[in-house]
Amino acid sequence: MSQPIEHLYRPGLEGIIAGETDISAVQQDSLMYRGYAIEELAEHSPFEETAYLLLHGELPTAAQLKAFGATLDKYRALPSEVIETIRLMPKETPGMDVLRTAVSMAAHFCPISGDEKPALLDRAARILAIVPTIIGARLRFLAGKAPVAPKPGLSHAAQTLYLAFGREPSAIEARLLNLTLVLYAEHEFNASAFAARVTASTLADMYSAIVTGIGTLKGPLHGGANEETIHLMRQFKSGDEAAAWTENAIATKQKISGFGHRVYKNGDHRARILEGEMEKLAPGRSDRHLLDVYFAIKNTVWERKQIHMNVDYPCGLTYYWLNLPIDIYTPLFVASRVSGWSAHYIEQFTNNRIIRPLSRYTGPPERSYVPIAKR
Ligand SMILES: CC(C)(COP(=O)(O)OP(=O)(O)OC[C@H]1O[C@@H](n2cnc3c(N)ncnc32)[C@H](O)[C@@H]1OP(=O)(O)O)[C@@H](O)C(=O)NCCC(=O)NCCS
Repeated sequence: MSQPIEHLYRPGLEGIIAGETDISAVQQDSLMYRGYAIEELAEHSPFEETAYLLLHGELPTAAQLKAFGATLDKYRALPSEVIETIRLMPKETPGMDVLRTAVSMAAHFCPISGDEKPALLDRAARILAIVPTIIGARLRFLAGKAPVAPKPGLSHAAQTLYLAFGREPSAIEARLLNLTLVLYAEHEFNASAFAARVTASTLADMYSAIVTGIGTLKGPLHGGANEETIHLMRQFKSGDEAAAWTENAIATKQKISGFGHRVYKNGDHRARILEGEMEKLAPGRSDRHLLDVYFAIKNTVWERKQIHMNVDYPCGLTYYWLNLPIDIYTPLFVASRVSGWSAHYIEQFTNNRIIRPLSRYTGPPERSYVPIAKR
């Protein structure tokens, strides 16, 4: 006899375990991808290795990593129809919308069929490979230039910058982008991964789940926050100005981008790792005052409300000091997180029960239908 189900209601599903996963664990005192601490991956891992770990469950051997890199190289190019569609999109279209449409369109040209694990892994590699190409093509068209062809042999991070700017990045640019990609790759049942899993649980295809993820990540309460943080910091000429604004924002109960987290209440491990690297970019910059602004906001939020920064806070200034256009900050998040979404898709799809919770009805009580002539 089955047990009666207890009907719990928590707004925003706070504290609810909505499924099981082997992919990552987000805890107060640690973040682990497949059992490996984020600190170790951040220090040692090229993003391709982290993506392989998430998708396959184990770190690759040197030969497996090489083969994975070659697979990504093989799949980087976009169908000409997708390139043409990117070219035709209005200039004002947000980068995340371009990405959402282009990934969706690319699905129509994906020749891989079948739902066995190798086919799913192959599809995941295809989607991972094209995100930098889409971001790059879009930037090149906005600059009035033709897209450059992917250059085989580059890391995912270096390739992303190469496709965007048509030149190989410096070692520091590639290293820092790689770091953010590793930090952004996966985060358990965050909103976009959960949304992608809901799509997977209907047995829809992987591209549909990834497009779901992109749409969900776009919002300013989720991935969109990395763009919002730098828009905020750039408003201020000094730390004092930023602190005064922050005091008022807290007093008037405004949400400040880059702070707070549903799960972490003792601070976001990823943010601490990135902040240390971000600070090293400050010397020699003419806009160094942004570092004062950064700490003034951070310290005031802590003093007034005891809320920690999340990873999007240092990421905004890191990308800005890497001279990246703000509109690609959240798309760069996708260039990484697509690996986590795909791992979630495969995990859900291959051990599935449809995700279908209940709602609590708060509408009018039952009433009689009134014919239109009598309303
Ligand atoms: C991430 C986020 C959506 C989590 O939301 P949540 O778990 O529902 O948290 P709550 O909104 O219940 O916040 C709890 C308290 O902290 C406050 N708080 C949370 N995030 C805050 C922020 N960024 N700025 C100011 N106050 C914040 C809330 O106002 C609330 O205060 P109260 O108890 O006095 O009413 C939320 O912190 C947020 O909007 N952050 C800004 C956007 C962002 O950086 N997103 C990226 C997340 S990685």
